[in-house]
Amino acid sequence: MKAPSILIVDDEPDNFDVIETLLNEGDWDLYYAANGREGIAFLEILPPDLVLLDVMMPGMDGIEVCQTIKANVRWQAIPVIAITALTAKEDLARCLAAGADDFISKPVNRYELRARIQSLLRIKYQYDRLQTLFGLREDMVKMIVHDLRNPLTGVLANLELLDTMKSLNTDLAWGLIDRAHSSAQMLQGLIDDLLTISSIESGKIRLNRTEVDLCALIHAVLGNFEAIAAQKNQVLVSHFSLDSEYKISGDFTTIRRLLDNLLSNAIKFSPNNSEIVVNVEWLEAGNSKIQVIDSGAGIPEALQQKIFEKYEVGTPMPDISQIGLGLAFCKMVAEAHGGNICVKNNQPRGSIFELTLPA
Ligand SMILES: Nc1ncnc2c1ncn2[C@@H]1O[C@H](COP(=O)(O)OP(=O)(O)OP(=O)(O)O)[C@@H](O)[C@H]1O
Ligand SMILES: [Mg+2]
Repeated sequence: MKAPSILIVDDEPDNFDVIETLLNEGDWDLYYAANGREGIAFLEILPPDLVLLDVMMPGMDGIEVCQTIKANVRWQAIPVIAITALTAKEDLARCLAAGADDFISKPVNRYELRARIQSLLRIKYQYDRLQTLFGLREDMVKMIVHDLRNPLTGVLANLELLDTMKSLNTDLAWGLIDRAHSSAQMLQGLIDDLLTISSIESGKIRLNRTEVDLCALIHAVLGNFEAIAAQKNQVLVSHFSLDSEYKISGDFTTIRRLLDNLLSNAIKFSPNNSEIVVNVEWLEAGNSKIQVIDSGAGIPEALQQKIFEKYEVGTPMPDISQIGLGLAFCKMVAEAHGGNICVKNNQPRGSIFELTLPA
Protein backbone atom coordinates (compact mmCIF):
# COMPACT_ATOMS: atom_id res chain seq x y z
CA MET A 1 0.00 0.00 0.00
CA LYS A 2 1.17 3.54 -0.77
CA ALA A 3 2.63 5.39 2.26
CA PRO A 4 0.34 8.21 3.45
CA SER A 5 1.51 11.64 2.31
CA ILE A 6 1.67 14.50 4.78
CA LEU A 7 2.08 18.14 3.80
CA ILE A 8 3.69 20.36 6.42
CA VAL A 9 2.98 24.06 5.95
CA ASP A 10 5.25 26.22 8.10
CA ASP A 11 7.22 29.41 7.47
CA GLU A 12 10.06 28.20 9.74
CA PRO A 13 12.24 25.59 7.99
CA ASP A 14 13.55 24.59 11.44
CA ASN A 15 10.03 23.55 12.44
CA PHE A 16 9.86 21.24 9.44
CA ASP A 17 13.14 19.65 10.57
CA VAL A 18 11.71 19.15 14.07
CA ILE A 19 8.57 17.48 12.70
CA GLU A 20 10.61 15.40 10.30
CA THR A 21 12.69 14.16 13.23
CA LEU A 22 9.58 13.45 15.32
CA LEU A 23 7.96 11.55 12.46
CA ASN A 24 10.95 9.63 11.24
CA GLU A 25 10.74 5.86 11.40
CA GLY A 26 7.18 6.21 10.21
CA ASP A 27 5.85 5.04 6.89
CA TRP A 28 4.89 8.44 5.54
CA ASP A 29 5.98 10.65 2.70
CA LEU A 30 6.62 14.17 4.01
CA TYR A 31 6.33 17.31 1.86
CA TYR A 32 7.10 20.87 2.82
CA ALA A 33 5.58 24.23 1.92
CA ALA A 34 7.17 27.42 3.28
CA ASN A 35 3.97 29.51 3.36
CA GLY A 36 0.21 29.37 2.91
CA ARG A 37 0.21 30.11 -0.84
CA GLU A 38 2.84 27.45 -1.50
CA GLY A 39 0.77 25.01 0.54
CA ILE A 40 -2.37 25.68 -1.54
CA ALA A 41 -0.32 25.44 -4.75
CA PHE A 42 0.95 22.04 -3.58
CA LEU A 43 -2.60 20.82 -2.94
CA GLU A 44 -3.53 21.71 -6.52
CA ILE A 45 -0.84 19.37 -7.80
CA LEU A 46 -0.79 16.53 -5.29
CA PRO A 47 -3.54 16.48 -2.65
CA PRO A 48 -1.95 14.85 0.42
CA ASP A 49 -3.61 12.49 2.91
CA LEU A 50 -3.15 14.99 5.76
CA VAL A 51 -1.97 18.57 6.35
CA LEU A 52 0.03 19.76 9.37
CA LEU A 53 -0.54 23.48 9.44
CA ASP A 54 1.29 26.17 11.37
CA VAL A 55 -1.24 28.77 12.51
CA MET A 56 0.98 31.87 12.87
CA MET A 57 2.47 32.59 9.47
CA PRO A 58 3.11 35.91 7.72
CA GLY A 59 0.87 36.64 4.73
CA MET A 60 -1.77 33.94 4.41
CA ASP A 61 -1.97 32.55 7.94
CA GLY A 62 -2.97 29.04 9.00
CA ILE A 63 -6.60 30.03 9.62
CA GLU A 64 -6.95 31.33 6.07
CA VAL A 65 -5.20 28.29 4.57
CA CYS A 66 -7.50 26.02 6.55
CA GLN A 67 -10.61 27.91 5.40
CA THR A 68 -9.42 27.68 1.78
CA ILE A 69 -8.86 23.93 2.07
CA LYS A 70 -12.20 23.25 3.69
CA ALA A 71 -14.09 25.45 1.21
CA ASN A 72 -12.88 23.35 -1.71
CA VAL A 73 -14.91 20.17 -2.34
CA ARG A 74 -11.84 18.37 -3.70
CA TRP A 75 -9.89 18.97 -0.48
CA GLN A 76 -12.61 19.06 2.17
CA ALA A 77 -11.95 15.50 3.30
CA ILE A 78 -8.22 16.03 3.83
CA PRO A 79 -7.69 16.19 7.60
CA VAL A 80 -5.94 19.32 8.85
CA ILE A 81 -4.08 19.44 12.15
CA ALA A 82 -3.36 23.02 13.27
CA ILE A 83 -0.04 23.38 15.06
CA THR A 84 -0.12 26.36 17.35
CA ALA A 85 1.91 28.13 19.98
CA LEU A 86 -1.32 29.82 21.03
CA THR A 87 -2.97 28.33 24.03
CA ALA A 88 -5.83 30.77 24.57
CA LYS A 89 -9.11 28.92 24.23
CA GLU A 90 -10.46 31.53 21.76
CA ASP A 91 -7.52 30.87 19.41
CA LEU A 92 -8.12 27.13 19.52
CA ALA A 93 -11.80 27.75 18.90
CA ARG A 94 -10.82 29.90 15.89
CA CYS A 95 -8.78 26.99 14.41
CA LEU A 96 -11.70 24.61 14.81
CA ALA A 97 -14.15 27.15 13.43
CA ALA A 98 -11.89 27.49 10.36
CA GLY A 99 -12.42 23.76 9.80
CA ALA A 100 -9.29 22.26 11.42
CA ASP A 101 -9.94 18.64 12.41
CA ASP A 102 -7.57 18.71 15.35
CA PHE A 103 -4.86 20.87 16.87
CA ILE A 104 -1.63 20.33 18.66
CA SER A 105 0.34 22.78 20.83
CA LYS A 106 3.98 23.68 20.51
CA PRO A 107 6.38 22.31 21.61
CA VAL A 108 5.10 19.29 19.73
CA ASN A 109 5.29 15.99 21.52
CA ARG A 110 6.36 12.98 19.38
CA TYR A 111 3.77 10.52 20.74
CA GLU A 112 0.90 12.94 20.67
CA LEU A 113 1.72 14.03 17.12
CA ARG A 114 1.92 10.47 15.83
CA ALA A 115 -1.23 9.38 17.65
CA ARG A 116 -3.24 12.31 16.29
CA ILE A 117 -1.97 11.79 12.76
CA GLN A 118 -2.81 8.10 12.89
CA SER A 119 -6.26 8.67 14.27
CA LEU A 120 -7.14 11.17 11.53
CA LEU A 121 -5.61 9.00 8.80
CA ARG A 122 -7.84 6.13 9.93
CA ILE A 123 -10.92 8.30 9.43
CA LYS A 124 -9.57 9.56 6.09
CA TYR A 125 -9.16 5.97 4.83
CA GLN A 126 -12.66 5.03 5.88
CA TYR A 127 -13.92 8.09 4.03
CA ASP A 128 -11.91 7.18 0.90
CA ARG A 129 -13.26 3.62 1.03
CA LEU A 130 -16.83 4.87 1.27
CA GLN A 131 -16.23 7.25 -1.64
CA THR A 132 -15.01 4.31 -3.75
CA LEU A 133 -18.08 2.29 -2.74
CA PHE A 134 -20.39 5.19 -3.62
CA GLY A 135 -18.66 5.43 -6.98
CA LEU A 136 -19.17 1.71 -7.61
CA ARG A 137 -22.79 1.93 -6.58
CA GLU A 138 -23.36 4.82 -8.91
CA ASP A 139 -21.81 2.88 -11.81
CA MET A 140 -24.01 -0.06 -10.88
CA VAL A 141 -27.19 2.03 -10.91
CA LYS A 142 -26.24 3.42 -14.32
CA MET A 143 -25.57 -0.08 -15.59
CA ILE A 144 -28.89 -1.41 -14.29
CA VAL A 145 -30.85 1.46 -15.76
CA HIS A 146 -29.05 0.90 -19.06
CA ASP A 147 -29.83 -2.83 -18.99
CA LEU A 148 -33.48 -2.21 -18.15
CA ARG A 149 -33.77 0.17 -21.07
CA ASN A 150 -32.69 -2.40 -23.67
CA PRO A 151 -35.66 -4.77 -23.36
CA LEU A 152 -38.01 -1.84 -22.88
CA THR A 153 -36.80 -0.38 -26.17
CA GLY A 154 -37.54 -3.79 -27.71
CA VAL A 155 -41.12 -3.73 -26.41
CA LEU A 156 -41.75 -0.19 -27.60
CA ALA A 157 -40.16 -0.64 -31.02
CA ASN A 158 -42.27 -3.72 -31.76
CA LEU A 159 -45.46 -2.08 -30.48
CA GLU A 160 -44.78 1.01 -32.61
CA LEU A 161 -44.32 -1.16 -35.69
CA LEU A 162 -47.61 -2.91 -34.90
CA ASP A 163 -49.29 0.47 -34.68
CA THR A 164 -48.33 1.20 -38.29
CA MET A 165 -49.78 -2.04 -39.64
CA LYS A 166 -53.09 -2.08 -41.43
CA SER A 167 -54.04 -5.59 -40.47
CA LEU A 168 -53.01 -7.18 -37.22
CA ASN A 169 -54.02 -10.64 -38.23
CA THR A 170 -50.89 -11.48 -40.20
CA ASP A 171 -47.82 -13.60 -39.47
CA LEU A 172 -45.69 -10.47 -39.39
CA ALA A 173 -47.94 -8.90 -36.74
CA TRP A 174 -47.87 -12.05 -34.63
CA GLY A 175 -44.08 -12.11 -34.93
CA LEU A 176 -43.90 -8.54 -33.63
CA ILE A 177 -46.23 -9.38 -30.76
CA ASP A 178 -44.06 -12.37 -29.89
CA ARG A 179 -40.92 -10.27 -29.87
CA ALA A 180 -42.53 -7.55 -27.76
CA HIS A 181 -43.75 -10.24 -25.40
CA SER A 182 -40.34 -11.85 -24.95
CA SER A 183 -38.69 -8.45 -24.43
CA ALA A 184 -41.31 -7.66 -21.80
CA GLN A 185 -40.65 -11.02 -20.12
CA MET A 186 -36.92 -10.29 -20.09
CA LEU A 187 -37.61 -6.93 -18.50
CA GLN A 188 -39.87 -8.49 -15.93
CA GLY A 189 -37.24 -11.15 -15.18
CA LEU A 190 -34.55 -8.56 -14.58
CA ILE A 191 -36.77 -6.50 -12.31
CA ASP A 192 -37.85 -9.62 -10.39
CA ASP A 193 -34.22 -10.69 -9.91
CA LEU A 194 -33.23 -7.26 -8.65
CA LEU A 195 -36.15 -7.14 -6.23
CA THR A 196 -35.51 -10.65 -4.94
CA ILE A 197 -31.79 -10.01 -4.49
CA SER A 198 -32.47 -6.85 -2.56
CA SER A 199 -35.07 -8.49 -0.34
CA ILE A 200 -32.75 -11.43 0.39
CA GLU A 201 -29.90 -9.02 1.12
CA SER A 202 -31.98 -7.01 3.53
CA GLY A 203 -32.96 -10.25 5.27
CA LYS A 204 -36.63 -9.62 4.45
CA ILE A 205 -37.25 -12.45 1.98
CA ARG A 206 -40.20 -14.63 2.88
CA LEU A 207 -40.19 -17.84 0.94
CA ASN A 208 -43.68 -18.77 -0.02
CA ARG A 209 -43.17 -22.51 0.39
CA THR A 210 -45.48 -24.98 -1.28
CA GLU A 211 -44.98 -28.48 -2.55
CA VAL A 212 -43.03 -28.10 -5.80
CA ASP A 213 -42.98 -30.89 -8.36
CA LEU A 214 -39.46 -30.47 -9.75
CA CYS A 215 -39.92 -32.53 -12.91
CA ALA A 216 -43.12 -30.74 -13.90
CA LEU A 217 -41.43 -27.42 -13.20
CA ILE A 218 -38.33 -28.24 -15.25
CA HIS A 219 -40.52 -29.53 -18.06
CA ALA A 220 -42.40 -26.22 -18.13
CA VAL A 221 -39.15 -24.20 -18.05
CA LEU A 222 -37.68 -26.25 -20.91
CA GLY A 223 -40.87 -25.72 -22.90
CA ASN A 224 -40.52 -21.98 -22.44
CA PHE A 225 -36.96 -21.93 -23.72
CA GLU A 226 -37.50 -24.21 -26.70
CA ALA A 227 -38.19 -21.39 -29.16
CA ILE A 228 -35.16 -19.41 -27.95
CA ALA A 229 -32.90 -22.45 -28.20
CA ALA A 230 -34.28 -23.18 -31.67
CA GLN A 231 -32.96 -19.82 -32.88
CA LYS A 232 -29.47 -21.22 -32.28
CA ASN A 233 -30.50 -24.66 -33.46
CA GLN A 234 -29.81 -26.00 -29.97
CA VAL A 235 -31.55 -29.03 -28.54
CA LEU A 236 -32.83 -29.12 -24.95
CA VAL A 237 -32.81 -32.60 -23.47
CA SER A 238 -34.15 -33.73 -20.10
CA HIS A 239 -33.01 -36.91 -18.41
CA PHE A 240 -35.94 -37.76 -16.24
CA SER A 241 -39.41 -39.08 -16.72
CA LEU A 242 -42.39 -36.87 -16.10
CA ASP A 243 -43.85 -39.52 -13.78
CA SER A 244 -40.89 -39.23 -11.41
CA GLU A 245 -41.92 -38.00 -8.00
CA TYR A 246 -39.40 -35.33 -7.10
CA LYS A 247 -41.35 -33.16 -4.74
CA ILE A 248 -39.69 -30.57 -2.55
CA SER A 249 -40.92 -27.82 -0.31
CA GLY A 250 -39.91 -24.53 -1.90
CA ASP A 251 -40.89 -21.18 -3.30
CA PHE A 252 -42.20 -22.00 -6.77
CA THR A 253 -41.61 -18.57 -8.33
CA THR A 254 -38.02 -18.08 -7.19
CA ILE A 255 -37.00 -21.67 -8.02
CA ARG A 256 -38.50 -21.20 -11.44
CA ARG A 257 -36.50 -17.99 -11.95
CA LEU A 258 -33.40 -19.83 -10.77
CA LEU A 259 -33.90 -22.50 -13.43
CA ASP A 260 -34.71 -19.82 -16.01
CA ASN A 261 -31.36 -18.19 -15.28
CA LEU A 262 -29.41 -21.45 -15.62
CA LEU A 263 -31.15 -22.33 -18.87
CA SER A 264 -30.76 -18.85 -20.26
CA ASN A 265 -27.02 -18.94 -19.49
CA ALA A 266 -26.58 -22.38 -21.02
CA ILE A 267 -28.26 -21.22 -24.24
CA LYS A 268 -26.50 -17.85 -24.28
CA PHE A 269 -22.99 -19.19 -23.67
CA SER A 270 -23.21 -22.29 -25.90
CA PRO A 271 -22.56 -22.41 -29.64
CA ASN A 272 -25.15 -23.07 -32.31
CA ASN A 273 -26.11 -26.70 -32.93
CA SER A 274 -25.18 -27.83 -29.43
CA GLU A 275 -27.11 -29.82 -26.86
CA ILE A 276 -28.16 -28.72 -23.37
CA VAL A 277 -29.08 -31.42 -20.90
CA VAL A 278 -31.06 -31.13 -17.67
CA ASN A 279 -30.76 -33.98 -15.15
CA VAL A 280 -32.63 -34.54 -11.91
CA GLU A 281 -31.50 -37.01 -9.32
CA TRP A 282 -32.57 -37.89 -5.79
CA LEU A 283 -29.69 -37.95 -3.33
CA GLU A 284 -29.58 -40.27 -0.33
CA ALA A 285 -30.41 -37.68 2.31
CA GLY A 286 -33.64 -36.88 0.49
CA ASN A 287 -32.05 -33.94 -1.28
CA SER A 288 -32.50 -33.41 -4.97
CA LYS A 289 -29.74 -32.59 -7.41
CA ILE A 290 -30.46 -30.74 -10.63
CA GLN A 291 -27.78 -30.38 -13.26
CA VAL A 292 -27.79 -28.09 -16.27
CA ILE A 293 -25.08 -29.29 -18.63
CA ASP A 294 -23.82 -27.47 -21.69
CA SER A 295 -20.93 -27.78 -24.11
CA GLY A 296 -20.27 -24.06 -24.36
CA ALA A 297 -17.28 -21.90 -23.63
CA GLY A 298 -16.84 -23.33 -20.12
CA ILE A 299 -15.62 -21.28 -17.15
CA PRO A 300 -11.96 -21.05 -16.09
CA GLU A 301 -11.46 -22.57 -12.65
CA ALA A 302 -10.22 -19.27 -11.21
CA LEU A 303 -13.64 -17.73 -11.96
CA GLN A 304 -15.88 -20.61 -10.91
CA GLN A 305 -16.63 -19.13 -7.48
CA LYS A 306 -16.49 -15.49 -8.51
CA ILE A 307 -19.27 -15.65 -11.11
CA PHE A 308 -21.77 -16.25 -8.28
CA GLU A 309 -21.06 -12.78 -6.93
CA LYS A 310 -23.16 -9.82 -8.01
CA TYR A 311 -22.04 -8.12 -11.23
CA GLU A 312 -19.23 -10.60 -11.84
CA VAL A 313 -19.33 -11.40 -15.52
CA GLY A 314 -16.42 -13.85 -15.78
CA THR A 315 -14.75 -13.87 -19.17
CA PRO A 316 -16.08 -10.98 -21.31
CA MET A 317 -17.71 -12.29 -24.48
CA PRO A 318 -18.27 -10.05 -27.49
CA ASP A 319 -21.87 -9.41 -28.57
CA ILE A 320 -23.38 -11.23 -25.57
CA SER A 321 -25.27 -9.36 -22.87
CA GLN A 322 -23.43 -9.94 -19.58
CA ILE A 323 -24.92 -8.23 -16.56
CA GLY A 324 -23.70 -10.61 -13.91
CA LEU A 325 -26.87 -10.79 -11.82
CA GLY A 326 -28.36 -14.16 -12.80
CA LEU A 327 -26.01 -16.46 -10.89
CA ALA A 328 -25.90 -14.18 -7.84
CA PHE A 329 -29.68 -14.54 -7.79
CA CYS A 330 -29.40 -18.35 -8.19
CA LYS A 331 -26.97 -18.64 -5.29
CA MET A 332 -29.07 -16.48 -2.99
CA VAL A 333 -32.24 -18.41 -3.79
CA ALA A 334 -30.50 -21.80 -3.42
CA GLU A 335 -29.10 -20.77 -0.04
CA ALA A 336 -32.39 -19.24 1.12
CA HIS A 337 -33.83 -22.75 0.54
CA GLY A 338 -31.01 -24.34 2.56
CA GLY A 339 -29.40 -25.68 -0.62
CA ASN A 340 -26.40 -24.70 -2.69
CA ILE A 341 -25.19 -24.28 -6.23
CA CYS A 342 -21.80 -24.75 -7.88
CA VAL A 343 -20.25 -25.15 -11.29
CA LYS A 344 -17.94 -27.85 -12.61
CA ASN A 345 -16.20 -28.47 -15.91
CA ASN A 346 -18.04 -30.59 -18.42
CA GLN A 347 -15.96 -32.99 -20.53
CA PRO A 348 -14.67 -32.48 -23.15
CA ARG A 349 -15.99 -28.90 -22.97
CA GLY A 350 -18.63 -26.73 -21.35
CA SER A 351 -20.03 -26.38 -17.85
CA ILE A 352 -22.19 -28.31 -15.42
CA PHE A 353 -24.22 -26.14 -13.07
CA GLU A 354 -25.30 -28.24 -10.12
CA LEU A 355 -28.10 -27.19 -7.81
CA THR A 356 -28.82 -29.11 -4.62
CA LEU A 357 -32.09 -28.51 -2.79
CA PRO A 358 -33.23 -30.16 0.42
CA ALA A 359 -36.49 -32.04 0.39
N1 LIG B 1 -23.25 -21.80 -18.92
C1 LIG B 1 -22.23 -20.93 -18.92
N2 LIG B 1 -21.16 -21.11 -19.74
C2 LIG B 1 -20.12 -20.25 -19.74
N3 LIG B 1 -20.06 -19.14 -18.96
C3 LIG B 1 -21.09 -18.90 -18.14
C4 LIG B 1 -22.22 -19.77 -18.07
N4 LIG B 1 -23.07 -19.29 -17.15
C5 LIG B 1 -22.50 -18.17 -16.67
N5 LIG B 1 -21.33 -17.93 -17.25
C6 LIG B 1 -20.38 -16.83 -16.96
O1 LIG B 1 -20.72 -16.29 -15.70
C7 LIG B 1 -21.04 -14.91 -15.81
C8 LIG B 1 -22.10 -14.55 -14.79
O2 LIG B 1 -23.34 -15.17 -15.14
P1 LIG B 1 -24.69 -14.51 -14.69
O3 LIG B 1 -25.81 -15.36 -15.10
O4 LIG B 1 -24.57 -14.15 -13.25
O5 LIG B 1 -24.72 -13.11 -15.47
P2 LIG B 1 -24.97 -12.82 -17.01
O6 LIG B 1 -25.47 -14.01 -17.70
O7 LIG B 1 -23.71 -12.18 -17.50
O8 LIG B 1 -26.08 -11.67 -16.95
P3 LIG B 1 -27.58 -11.83 -16.38
O9 LIG B 1 -27.59 -11.00 -15.15
O10 LIG B 1 -28.41 -11.29 -17.48
O11 LIG B 1 -27.83 -13.27 -16.11
C9 LIG B 1 -21.47 -14.73 -17.25
O12 LIG B 1 -21.31 -13.41 -17.69
C10 LIG B 1 -20.51 -15.70 -17.96
O13 LIG B 1 -19.24 -15.14 -18.15
MG1 LIG C 1 -27.14 -15.04 -16.78
